[in-house]
Amino acid sequence: MKILLFGKTGQVGWELQRSLAPLGDVVALASKSTDLCGDFTNLTGLAETVRRVQPDVIVNAAAYTAVDKAESEPELALTVNALAPEVLAVEAARQGALLVHYSTDYVFDGTGTEARREDAPTGPLSVYGRTKLEGEARISGAGCRHLIFRTSWVYAARGGNFAKTMLRLGSEREVLNVIDDQVGSPTGAELIADVTAHAVQRFRPELGGIHHLVAAGETSWHEYARFVLDIARKRGMPLKLQELNAIPTSAYPTPARRPHNSRLDRTRLEQSFGLLMPAWQAGVLRMLDEVLQ
Ligand SMILES: NC(=O)c1ccc[n+]([C@@H]2O[C@H](COP(=O)([O-])OP(=O)(O)OC[C@H]3O[C@@H](n4cnc5c(N)ncnc54)[C@H](OP(=O)(O)O)[C@@H]3O)[C@@H](O)[C@H]2O)c1
Repeated sequence: MKILLFGKTGQVGWELQRSLAPLGDVVALASKSTDLCGDFTNLTGLAETVRRVQPDVIVNAAAYTAVDKAESEPELALTVNALAPEVLAVEAARQGALLVHYSTDYVFDGTGTEARREDAPTGPLSVYGRTKLEGEARISGAGCRHLIFRTSWVYAARGGNFAKTMLRLGSEREVLNVIDDQVGSPTGAELIADVTAHAVQRFRPELGGIHHLVAAGETSWHEYARFVLDIARKRGMPLKLQELNAIPTSAYPTPARRPHNSRLDRTRLEQSFGLLMPAWQAGVLRMLDEVLQ
């Protein structure tokens, strides 16, 4: 099997290089790759890459993920999150390749308290969410075989993420205020990459489309921060932190609005691929083992 991976430097892309390797030959590209184009702002170059590599599977881990910055760069976010994935989808359809793509809980408006299924009405609150939703639509419109994994609150030992920011701030500050009215599931890049490899191997046309790929259980950013900082303290990390306060979203204004309810229903993914997602804490503990060495 020949696999073409985009976004190899990202949290998920990095883990995919490991998880996809046993499946066949992996051609892994970054935005700055020189031999083949992996730059999502160069749509002609991307199409040319797919034609030259002729992959059986395209895995797209590249995305414009700077949620707040996207508010002031909507065109760039649209190009990277929707127009470039559409090019990959069109080329995948032309060549009969399977396209694997990632999307987000931010396609929803986050009202209510229920976990949303894949077919629940969308309603993105931000430019990032809108461009990711547009990417989903353009991929399904292109008519290629595809898997779109919507995930949430991604972390990894490598790369920037909330857990690592909390470790840094906890060592620098005595007081931290963290939002407690946004609820979701922290999901490890390692888990996303392992599930992707599993799903690619077991893919059948009827399993195509959108799947919610998140760890089991739920938490708020505040509880998540407390979990991370408690473990760090137990492992002997020197922390200045004395007070970890819970605050509402309204007390922490950001350029982009975020959903309060990011709960995603995992039933379709688990039934389709015979999986049982682990509790979110399991992967966070593993990541902390690596980060706190
Ligand atoms: N992070 C989260 O909390 C989260 C939550 C829900 C869903 N997701 C989705 O999960 C997927 C993976 O996210 P992640 O956390 O692994 O992202 P990430 O760590 O921010 O990595 C993003 C990747 O996209 C690449 N990229 C950005 N602009 C590019 C461009 N113009 N051309 C080519 N590549 C470009 C980056 O490469 P360079 O560094 O080389 O530019 C990097 O490899 C994305 O689809 C994201 O939308 C993420």
